[in-house]
Amino acid sequence: MKINNDTIIKDDNRLIKSRSADVPLPLSKEDEMTLKALLQYVKDSTVAEIAEKENLRPAVGIAAIQIGIPKKMIAVVIKDGDGEIVYEYALINPKIISNSVEEAYLGAGEGCLSVEGEHEGYVYRSRRIKVRAFDYLQNKEVIIKASDYLAIVLQHEIDHFSGILFYERIDKKNPFVQKKDAFRID
Ligand code: NI
Repeated sequence: MKINNDTIIKDDNRLIKSRSADVPLPLSKEDEMTLKALLQYVKDSTVAEIAEKENLRPAVGIAAIQIGIPKKMIAVVIKDGDGEIVYEYALINPKIISNSVEEAYLGAGEGCLSVEGEHEGYVYRSRRIKVRAFDYLQNKEVIIKASDYLAIVLQHEIDHFSGILFYERIDKKNPFVQKKDAFRID
Protein backbone atom coordinates (compact mmCIF):
# COMPACT_ATOMS: atom_id res chain seq x y z
CA MET A 1 0.00 0.00 0.00
CA LYS A 2 1.39 3.35 -1.05
CA ILE A 3 -0.17 6.58 0.15
CA ASN A 4 0.17 9.83 -1.75
CA ASN A 5 -1.74 13.07 -1.98
CA ASP A 6 -4.19 11.52 -4.47
CA THR A 7 -5.10 8.62 -2.19
CA ILE A 8 -5.74 10.84 0.82
CA ILE A 9 -9.41 11.68 1.17
CA LYS A 10 -10.36 15.31 1.47
CA ASP A 11 -13.06 17.12 3.39
CA ASP A 12 -15.41 17.11 0.39
CA ASN A 13 -15.74 13.36 0.99
CA ARG A 14 -18.24 12.45 3.71
CA LEU A 15 -16.05 9.53 4.74
CA ILE A 16 -13.76 11.98 6.53
CA LYS A 17 -16.58 12.51 9.06
CA SER A 18 -16.70 8.79 9.94
CA ARG A 19 -16.20 7.56 13.47
CA SER A 20 -13.17 5.34 13.81
CA ALA A 21 -13.38 2.01 15.63
CA ASP A 22 -11.03 0.39 18.12
CA VAL A 23 -8.44 -1.88 16.57
CA PRO A 24 -8.10 -5.43 17.93
CA LEU A 25 -4.70 -6.44 19.25
CA PRO A 26 -2.54 -8.17 18.27
CA LEU A 27 -2.71 -6.36 14.96
CA SER A 28 -4.00 -8.21 11.95
CA LYS A 29 -1.63 -8.31 8.98
CA GLU A 30 -3.92 -5.91 7.16
CA ASP A 31 -3.98 -3.37 10.02
CA GLU A 32 -0.22 -3.66 10.37
CA MET A 33 0.23 -2.86 6.68
CA THR A 34 -2.04 0.15 7.01
CA LEU A 35 -0.17 1.50 10.02
CA LYS A 36 3.22 0.98 8.38
CA ALA A 37 2.04 2.80 5.27
CA LEU A 38 0.79 5.71 7.39
CA LEU A 39 4.14 5.94 9.16
CA GLN A 40 6.08 5.74 5.93
CA TYR A 41 3.98 8.50 4.43
CA VAL A 42 4.63 10.90 7.28
CA LYS A 43 8.34 10.10 7.39
CA ASP A 44 8.86 10.53 3.66
CA SER A 45 6.59 13.54 3.31
CA THR A 46 9.11 15.92 4.85
CA VAL A 47 12.01 14.71 2.70
CA ALA A 48 11.82 17.15 -0.20
CA GLU A 49 13.19 14.86 -2.94
CA ILE A 50 10.91 11.95 -2.03
CA ALA A 51 7.90 14.19 -1.49
CA GLU A 52 8.25 15.74 -4.92
CA LYS A 53 8.84 12.46 -6.70
CA GLU A 54 5.99 10.62 -4.97
CA ASN A 55 3.44 13.42 -4.68
CA LEU A 56 3.46 13.67 -0.89
CA ARG A 57 2.23 16.73 0.93
CA PRO A 58 4.39 17.44 3.99
CA ALA A 59 2.82 16.44 7.27
CA VAL A 60 3.70 15.63 10.87
CA GLY A 61 0.75 13.31 11.37
CA ILE A 62 -1.93 11.26 9.65
CA ALA A 63 -4.89 9.18 10.79
CA ALA A 64 -6.16 6.01 9.10
CA ILE A 65 -9.51 7.58 8.20
CA GLN A 66 -7.60 9.95 5.94
CA ILE A 67 -7.03 7.01 3.61
CA GLY A 68 -10.63 5.91 4.12
CA ILE A 69 -10.03 3.36 6.89
CA PRO A 70 -12.18 4.13 9.96
CA LYS A 71 -9.86 2.57 12.52
CA LYS A 72 -8.09 4.16 15.47
CA MET A 73 -4.56 4.31 14.15
CA ILE A 74 -2.28 7.33 13.70
CA ALA A 75 1.32 8.02 12.77
CA VAL A 76 3.21 11.05 14.03
CA VAL A 77 6.75 12.04 13.08
CA ILE A 78 8.17 15.32 14.28
CA LYS A 79 11.60 16.40 13.11
CA ASP A 80 13.85 19.24 14.21
CA GLY A 81 15.25 21.94 11.96
CA ASP A 82 18.03 19.60 10.78
CA GLY A 83 15.58 16.91 9.72
CA GLU A 84 16.42 14.69 12.69
CA ILE A 85 13.46 12.83 14.16
CA VAL A 86 12.49 14.09 17.61
CA TYR A 87 9.25 12.14 18.06
CA GLU A 88 8.07 9.11 16.15
CA TYR A 89 4.91 7.19 16.97
CA ALA A 90 2.72 4.62 15.27
CA LEU A 91 -0.20 4.43 17.66
CA ILE A 92 -3.09 2.04 17.96
CA ASN A 93 -6.18 3.08 19.92
CA PRO A 94 -4.64 6.25 21.38
CA LYS A 95 -6.86 7.84 23.98
CA ILE A 96 -6.43 11.09 25.87
CA ILE A 97 -6.62 10.19 29.55
CA SER A 98 -5.91 13.63 31.00
CA ASN A 99 -5.49 17.14 29.78
CA SER A 100 -4.43 20.45 31.24
CA VAL A 101 -6.76 23.37 31.70
CA GLU A 102 -4.02 25.56 30.29
CA GLU A 103 -4.36 25.87 26.53
CA ALA A 104 -1.94 26.31 23.66
CA TYR A 105 -2.27 27.13 19.97
CA LEU A 106 -0.11 27.36 16.89
CA GLY A 107 0.58 30.96 15.96
CA ALA A 108 0.53 30.01 12.27
CA GLY A 109 -2.67 27.98 12.63
CA GLU A 110 -3.09 24.29 11.85
CA GLY A 111 -3.11 22.40 8.59
CA CYS A 112 -4.36 18.99 7.54
CA LEU A 113 -3.73 16.62 4.64
CA SER A 114 -7.49 16.37 4.15
CA VAL A 115 -8.02 20.12 3.98
CA GLU A 116 -7.06 22.05 0.88
CA GLY A 117 -9.08 25.22 1.44
CA GLU A 118 -7.90 28.17 3.49
CA HIS A 119 -9.10 28.17 7.09
CA GLU A 120 -7.27 30.80 9.03
CA GLY A 121 -7.56 31.19 12.75
CA TYR A 122 -6.40 29.85 16.06
CA VAL A 123 -7.20 26.35 17.26
CA TYR A 124 -7.05 26.22 21.03
CA ARG A 125 -6.18 22.89 22.58
CA SER A 126 -4.84 21.63 25.89
CA ARG A 127 -1.21 22.52 26.38
CA ARG A 128 -0.45 19.22 28.11
CA ILE A 129 -2.06 15.85 27.69
CA LYS A 130 -1.52 12.27 28.64
CA VAL A 131 -2.27 9.69 26.00
CA ARG A 132 -2.60 5.98 26.52
CA ALA A 133 -1.97 3.89 23.42
CA PHE A 134 -0.36 0.80 22.06
CA ASP A 135 2.79 1.93 20.25
CA TYR A 136 3.62 -0.29 17.30
CA LEU A 137 7.25 0.86 17.27
CA GLN A 138 7.85 -0.04 20.91
CA ASN A 139 5.46 -3.01 20.70
CA LYS A 140 3.86 -2.17 24.02
CA GLU A 141 1.26 -0.08 25.72
CA VAL A 142 2.60 3.37 26.50
CA ILE A 143 1.55 6.50 28.33
CA ILE A 144 2.76 9.54 26.44
CA LYS A 145 3.10 12.77 28.38
CA ALA A 146 2.94 15.36 25.66
CA SER A 147 3.15 19.11 25.80
CA ASP A 148 3.12 22.03 23.39
CA TYR A 149 3.65 21.07 19.75
CA LEU A 150 3.47 17.29 20.25
CA ALA A 151 0.32 17.70 22.34
CA ILE A 152 -1.31 19.79 19.60
CA VAL A 153 -0.42 17.25 16.91
CA LEU A 154 -1.75 14.30 18.93
CA GLN A 155 -5.01 16.10 19.71
CA HIS A 156 -5.43 17.00 16.03
CA GLU A 157 -4.94 13.39 14.94
CA ILE A 158 -7.15 11.93 17.66
CA ASP A 159 -9.88 14.41 16.62
CA HIS A 160 -9.99 12.58 13.28
CA PHE A 161 -11.41 9.54 15.12
CA SER A 162 -14.55 11.58 15.75
CA GLY A 163 -14.58 13.14 12.30
CA ILE A 164 -13.55 16.51 13.68
CA LEU A 165 -11.43 18.75 11.46
CA PHE A 166 -9.27 21.51 12.90
CA TYR A 167 -11.24 24.37 11.37
CA GLU A 168 -14.38 23.27 13.19
CA ARG A 169 -12.55 24.41 16.33
CA ILE A 170 -11.86 27.91 14.99
CA ASP A 171 -14.14 30.64 16.32
CA LYS A 172 -16.15 31.56 13.22
CA LYS A 173 -17.06 35.05 14.37
CA ASN A 174 -13.56 35.87 15.58
CA PRO A 175 -10.99 33.42 14.14
CA PHE A 176 -8.05 35.13 15.79
CA VAL A 177 -9.73 35.63 19.15
CA GLN A 178 -7.00 36.03 21.73
CA LYS A 179 -7.60 33.82 24.72
CA LYS A 180 -6.00 35.08 27.87
CA ASP A 181 -3.36 32.74 29.33
CA ALA A 182 -3.16 30.48 26.26
CA PHE A 183 0.39 29.61 25.24
CA ARG A 184 1.39 30.56 21.70
CA ILE A 185 3.63 28.14 19.82
CA ASP A 186 5.65 29.51 16.88
NI1 NI B 1 -5.57 16.26 9.94
